[in-house]
Amino acid sequence: MTTSPNASKVGELIRRLDEAVAAPDDAARCRSVKRVLIDVVNSGEQFVESPFLEPAPQRYARRLMHRDPRDRYTVLVMVWDRGQGTPLHDHAGTWCVECVYRGRIRVTSFSVHGGDPEAGIVQFEKESVVMAGVGEAGALIPPFEYHMIENPDTTAAVTIHVYGGEMKHCHVFNPVEGGYRREYLELGYTT
Ligand SMILES: [Fe+2]
Repeated sequence: MTTSPNASKVGELIRRLDEAVAAPDDAARCRSVKRVLIDVVNSGEQFVESPFLEPAPQRYARRLMHRDPRDRYTVLVMVWDRGQGTPLHDHAGTWCVECVYRGRIRVTSFSVHGGDPEAGIVQFEKESVVMAGVGEAGALIPPFEYHMIENPDTTAAVTIHVYGGEMKHCHVFNPVEGGYRREYLELGYTT
């Protein structure tokens, strides 16, 4: 049996994430996870297997790379083809750290300006727009969990996301008269 040249880097990533998620609170946990992702991606080694890097035609690809056996976190790889992105969404109360593996993404963060995101119409205010390139990472810690991600370029971008559990749904916010209306969204994996 041959061993994939990437296997040791993936092993290092998982080992270090196992340690990082043991931090005492979400802020410390996200700082540690961010450090791990930045280190591993900036090592320059290509450790994400090629089937994970394939764009999907309809929407951005979302693939499960690792599920912690103790359910403390999951690692997903997402591929953003030209023109692909998310609507404004939340993370259903789950912390997340994301790091760019290839290309660039534009992350627009929002804060609640009026209304109740749990019910009815909510008003958001744009907080920041960040362009992130390879090896750059950001964290999202509830209740500050509203953002959208887009690929600003004409070539595909790839990001690695670590979630504090398995995020099987979230809410998207669609623009309506007077603000945005929350809708439940089931999140699946791309095959
Ligand atoms: Fe997100």
